[in-house]
Amino acid sequence: MKRNVLLHGADYYPEQWLEHPDILTKDIEYLKKAKINVVSLGVFAWSVLEPEEGVYDFKWMEEIVDRLYQNDISIMLATPSGARPKWLSDKYEEVLRVDENRVRNLFGGRHNHCYTSPVYREKTAAINKELSRRFGKHPGVIAWHISNEFSGECHCPLCQQAFKEWLKERYQTIGQVNKAWETTFWSHRYQDFSQIESPSPRGEMQLHGLNLDWKRFVTDRTVDFVRHEVQAVKEEGSKLPVTINLMYDFNGLNYYKFRNVIDVVSWDTYPTWHKIPEADTAMDTAMQHDFMRSILKKPFWIMESCPTSTNWQSVSKLKKPGMLQAASLQAIAHGSDSVQYFQVRQSRGASEKFHGAVIDHYGGADTRVLKEVTGVGEALELLGETAGSVTVAKAAVLHDCENRWAMEDAQGPRNKGLHYKEAVMKSYGALRRAGLDVDIIDMEQSLMDYEIVAAPMLYLFRENFEEKAKEFVKQGGTLIFTYWSGIVNHTDLCFLGGTPHGLTDVFGIRSMEIDGLYDGEENSAIPKESASLILNKEYKCGNLCDLVALKGAEVLAEYSSDFYAGMPALTVNPYGAGSAYYVCADFEEEFYNELYEKIIKKHKITPLLTDIPKGVEVTSRENEQYRYLFIQNYNREPVSIVLSKEKEEIIYGEDNGEIPSFGTLVLKRKKDNS
Ligand code: GLA
Ligand code: ZN
Repeated sequence: MKRNVLLHGADYYPEQWLEHPDILTKDIEYLKKAKINVVSLGVFAWSVLEPEEGVYDFKWMEEIVDRLYQNDISIMLATPSGARPKWLSDKYEEVLRVDENRVRNLFGGRHNHCYTSPVYREKTAAINKELSRRFGKHPGVIAWHISNEFSGECHCPLCQQAFKEWLKERYQTIGQVNKAWETTFWSHRYQDFSQIESPSPRGEMQLHGLNLDWKRFVTDRTVDFVRHEVQAVKEEGSKLPVTINLMYDFNGLNYYKFRNVIDVVSWDTYPTWHKIPEADTAMDTAMQHDFMRSILKKPFWIMESCPTSTNWQSVSKLKKPGMLQAASLQAIAHGSDSVQYFQVRQSRGASEKFHGAVIDHYGGADTRVLKEVTGVGEALELLGETAGSVTVAKAAVLHDCENRWAMEDAQGPRNKGLHYKEAVMKSYGALRRAGLDVDIIDMEQSLMDYEIVAAPMLYLFRENFEEKAKEFVKQGGTLIFTYWSGIVNHTDLCFLGGTPHGLTDVFGIRSMEIDGLYDGEENSAIPKESASLILNKEYKCGNLCDLVALKGAEVLAEYSSDFYAGMPALTVNPYGAGSAYYVCADFEEEFYNELYEKIIKKHKITPLLTDIPKGVEVTSRENEQYRYLFIQNYNREPVSIVLSKEKEEIIYGEDNGEIPSFGTLVLKRKKDNS
């Protein structure tokens, strides 16, 4: 891949236009005009590439790949397994997915395949090898885009068998399974692995340990399928990097588990912009970017975004002038090396005919959208030197997929909503607003790279997580926990002997009971005036209120009402060289903003910038020589900003004391490497 180049591209489906050579010629002309330097090709091209079993037609693709290359447009080549030809499912029924009611799907849609089926694996390997043989060493092809947006599960007999084997490997004996899942409850004991089936609304849904293991298995199967696809392209000698495109806040797969089978993380971003305040959408998207970057801790790619409006959201909102630029540069600001769109040209028929694209049905180059896209291309050229630079975050927020699965299943203190994602967002947003770069990690990652870690609602502890948390604080880390933490172990059995499990000495508290509040019901926290950290005001809380017993912690705020008025609502405990904060209830956003700002000051953690105006995002990237500071204004009005520019060079935007609405400023500073 070329150095100092940020990728700018789009999904390209020339196979839909093969009967229109004039259109294909125009595509290239417009792509060049829009400064597009890469396309994603072949994502759903299987039925065109292999119209009959074993009969291939690669001619059209060869011509297009050559032509793109001659025009300086690189190719991310997709494997076509995201959707399959009719002949395949007609001849081999087993490739079609079976749902949780044990009903086999008909042909249609996409992602409708069994990831265990030997036939499906054989056929995907065959087409992948053909692709790799023909294009794996083509100078225009820069990466493999494996399939598309993996998702879903299959309950077919082949998958049931694989699940049993997976369980056997994990637990060895059926006795261990019974123990791990507490099957004595409702008399659900198994005598043999062969009796176990995947969860089903027609059968077993109440064994939380089974549900959790099934979800883990679905991830492992999908990872295994990706590995199988990757192996096929690599067997033909291709050394190109491999990516899969991930989705926004997708809960069906544990994305961290794909770390070892891909080289680059990419994701598809479709925020619903232009709700007020825009800064909230920006913050939500920022967290996803940071999550994607944290999976491999290196630059990621935006594989898809929409140059204008999508057609599948409840309202198809156009992007106002400047929005595409801001959203695209936000990805770069958070560590992406690319901005790509879905798609080059709007299709004529079927379900995405009204989805926004770089070129619309009118087909001219004089459109507002093409102009905006070109603007992004120009910006990416100016920022080319940031390609490859990384984000070194001092803060992390723990957002753990297995924890989320377990919590959603838990039948616990608030079946109306525990608001886990919101809790994560509140901590994330507060750390960001305080001017820190933030990684989003799970319980498998090391905590030691960070100065401050927020771990809201860590209901499930993976094996030995408590040791990790303890060590982090002992070595000087600042750890923030909240209510509903350390309750169950990795197979979803409740810990005995007090929670948060194994950490009551670290936090200096023990959670005794938790109160679920009705919607609209409130309590609040009154700051203690003599505390070592004093909040400015009383803050409201709702949803969940943890009643804790003190075991040495200092109380920073107390509940104001109900029978627990006067009991701790916020505590801190010094432990080893560090500090452990415990937030007892689900507080309003402002509480977290003030709390984290004060914690950061108290523990001398240096932010990227201080006094960041509301609605402004600050992030950084760095390489060996330079540190790049990105400042973006998501307000509908300009904001004034005072920067100390002595050592800074502006490489993007203008600094005249303010940043326009949706504007971006990028500053470059030589690093002091002494
Ligand atoms: C997803 C898919 C694409 C397309 C877009 C439309 O991200 O990967 O194939 O359907 O959505 O927004
Ligand atoms: Zn299956």
